[in-house]
Amino acid sequence: MTRRIFVLGATGTIGRATVRALVARGHEVVCLVRPQTGAGRAASAGGAAKAWGPQELARRLPGAELRYGDVTNPASLALDGFAGERFDVLLSCLASRTGAPRDAWAIDHQAHVQALDLAQRSGVTQMVLLSAICVQKPLLAFQQAKLAFEQVLIGSGLNHSIVRPTAFFKSLSGQVERVRQGKPFVVFGDGRLTACKPISDVDLGDYLAGCVDDESRHRRVLPIGGPGPALTPRQQGEHLFALLGREPRFKQVPVALMDAIIGALGLAGRVVPALAAKAELARIGRYYATESMLVWDAAAGRYDEQATPSWGRDTLFDHYAALVRGEAVSSDTERGDHAVF
Ligand SMILES: NC(=O)c1ccc[n+]([C@@H]2O[C@H](COP(=O)([O-])OP(=O)(O)OC[C@H]3O[C@@H](n4cnc5c(N)ncnc54)[C@H](OP(=O)(O)O)[C@@H]3O)[C@@H](O)[C@H]2O)c1
Repeated sequence: MTRRIFVLGATGTIGRATVRALVARGHEVVCLVRPQTGAGRAASAGGAAKAWGPQELARRLPGAELRYGDVTNPASLALDGFAGERFDVLLSCLASRTGAPRDAWAIDHQAHVQALDLAQRSGVTQMVLLSAICVQKPLLAFQQAKLAFEQVLIGSGLNHSIVRPTAFFKSLSGQVERVRQGKPFVVFGDGRLTACKPISDVDLGDYLAGCVDDESRHRRVLPIGGPGPALTPRQQGEHLFALLGREPRFKQVPVALMDAIIGALGLAGRVVPALAAKAELARIGRYYATESMLVWDAAAGRYDEQATPSWGRDTLFDHYAALVRGEAVSSDTERGDHAVF
């Protein structure tokens, strides 16, 4: 059934894939994007990526209607976004690009609270939310902000699908170029501290779009990974070296070193605010260096690969092969501020 779907975060990595999947399913898709769209992407890539103009955006989001406004401003959200029209579904891939506490609470929580309120007044009866598997163990500000909004959504009574994916390909491809240049693959500890079931943008976009009509995904929190077994960073590195026909070479970073850096930045951050932000980024890095992106079994006190559902067809190793062959664009410029390497 064709639905009118209001989309937030359409310009992000998963947002773009999800909009394409929604359009392919025949839905009527309206996206609210910021006037300087991709500006956050450009800034977080250290200038390596350009902001997109309207033509470029239309090329990247074919078949969707684009509206320009400010998601953080309720008046703009109402006038420029919902515009007094009726919608069936709110779908959000909106997320803070930095993960810094203030940004996370403004975007992952507050902007969503406002959008949910306006959506309900626009006739919306269902919301599909891109969240993250790591909110199951919320130690960081952005995780707490996401979790707080998940609670608001569940409490709203609206039909909802809260999708908590494991790691994205872009977050696991940052070292392809440096290894190709002859540098070692950097791991924390021995490279076996964590594991994840990587999911591709296309597969996750398809899963999110499918939440609209698939009743088995309604009123549920849905952890989701990609196909195949869970992979450790060491296995990712070994496979990359094999693809390049080279002997594996790893650089092992002790977690204690990260702790020392976090401690020093935390102290300095009490005096220099910019260093407090860097301390939070270092904490984010440490989290991903030590916590697996798999379903957490609280009773057993361990991550559970078998309990982490798989979806889709694309594998990380096929993506690595395409990057090595030069058939896929390196996602270095897409990783944003959360990137560790
Ligand atoms: N990376 C991973 O491995 C991973 C794994 C699991 C879950 N996740 C979760 O997935 C989500 C990120 O997905 P993604 O990689 O697709 O995100 P992304 O590429 O960083 O896109 C973020 C989207 O939010 C928009 N946005 C951010 N700040 C905004 C602001 N102030 N005003 C208006 N729009 C704003 C961006 O718009 P612009 O384009 O205009 O900046 C963009 O559309 C996060 O919730 C993350 O926690 C990530």
